[in-house]
Amino acid sequence: MIRALVLAAGKGTRMKSALPKVLHPICGEPMLAYVLRALRDAGIDDVTVVASSELRAHLDGMGGQPLRTVIQEPQLGTGHAVQVALAELAPGEGPLLICSGDMPLVTGDLLRRALEVLASHDGGAGRAACALVTARMPLPSGFGRIVRDGDGRVRAIVEARDATQEQLAIDEMNAAIYAFDEPLLRAMLPRLSNANAQREYYLTDAVALAVAGGHAVLPVVCDDYRITLGINDRVELAAARRIINAHLCEHWMREGVTIEDPETTYLESSVMLARDVTILHNTALRGRTRIGERATIGPDSELVDALVGPRCIVRRAVITDSALGESVIVGPFAHLRPGTVLEDGVHIGNYVEVKKSRLGKGTKANHLTYLGDAQIGRNVNVGAGTVTCNYDGAHKHATKIGDDAFIGTNSSLVAPIEIGAGALTGAGAVVIRDVAPGERVVGNPARTLPSKSKA
Ligand code: UD1
Ligand code: CA
Repeated sequence: MIRALVLAAGKGTRMKSALPKVLHPICGEPMLAYVLRALRDAGIDDVTVVASSELRAHLDGMGGQPLRTVIQEPQLGTGHAVQVALAELAPGEGPLLICSGDMPLVTGDLLRRALEVLASHDGGAGRAACALVTARMPLPSGFGRIVRDGDGRVRAIVEARDATQEQLAIDEMNAAIYAFDEPLLRAMLPRLSNANAQREYYLTDAVALAVAGGHAVLPVVCDDYRITLGINDRVELAAARRIINAHLCEHWMREGVTIEDPETTYLESSVMLARDVTILHNTALRGRTRIGERATIGPDSELVDALVGPRCIVRRAVITDSALGESVIVGPFAHLRPGTVLEDGVHIGNYVEVKKSRLGKGTKANHLTYLGDAQIGRNVNVGAGTVTCNYDGAHKHATKIGDDAFIGTNSSLVAPIEIGAGALTGAGAVVIRDVAPGERVVGNPARTLPSKSKA
């Protein structure tokens, strides 16, 4: 069994955040969850996370497999993190993979490659102490520099803050992914020092120690530096989000989704999209949102935990924790708040807000309306400006409207109230008592209209 250490206890001071760095979300998931997934993809299931106690409180259930955590307090550097972890773990004879919790773009393939390079070392140039991933990267960069000798052999890693001008010009960087020979690593760890610019114990110094001890250090050059990017501040966080979002958009486009403008489409990794969905510009789909076949979402929409049925059209809308059946039309400028259920064929038009309400098949509320805590039947016409007056200053009350009712323009329905099937309220009616099925009411307060004359 191959073991891995994920270093994640650092304070992440450059984030300037109350939240531990590796918990900052990218496309809906904490940075660290991406690293744990890559480890799983690489076939590593014995994972120890080196954490602060603050971080540990958030680790339960993350990564979908049991994690061991070791608390490193205080945090005296990456080398110290490994010292603390190995002091708690029973010694192993095999390879030990070490990476950081702040590299959300890392892939299982790259981690596996580091392990393979270490395993396939033939013993030339001595027993190998480690395989380490490097990448050529545009300068300037804050990454540690890989120092090689005239024969191209890795000699040392120099941190940017300790580097000479000459070393700063090196464009081969330490990705902070290492496959160590664990017994050799254990032998070197007590010899790390903190005589450097940051007064920290650097894991990277193990490389020079290995070389001095006559051991080989095997570079694993990654030709796409972007997958090795470590996130240290919010500028890098945004850059990583852009890359991960682009991957998500590409994935869904290949699955048959039209994304008009991937640059302004924000997807979270938990979102599910069916074939022939179209997403128009400036649209964010978050959480457990699912979109059915041939639906069109956007432009300018944000959906969080929304279930949208086939052939719906959602334009310029904000939808949270709501469910839409088939062929529902929403917007422009509509707000569906938690607990909204719109059955097939419902139309919600401009400046309509719906909260915790169910609208039956074919019901329409097309203009300037608030529906809250309402159960509305089928084929109801909700006139412009209708308001369910659901709040009396202390409590929320329910409104019920039966099938085929006609709610006139600017009706105020003072809840709790029930409007029967086929009933009608006149324009401007202030309805303060229940209306029987088929009954017609007008005025303020609304009274029964005796004749069949038009309301
Ligand atoms: C580190 C490497 C650098 C490399 C870069 C790649 C060292 C000294 N430097 O620098 O060569 O180019 O990563 O991204 O290793 N951590 C702990 N405990 C600590 C300190 C850090 O667990 O005491 C964790 C952090 O939470 C983080 C990881 O180790 O996840 C790396 O630490 P960070 O401070 O980000 O190192 P870099 O300066 O980026
Ligand atoms: Ca880092």
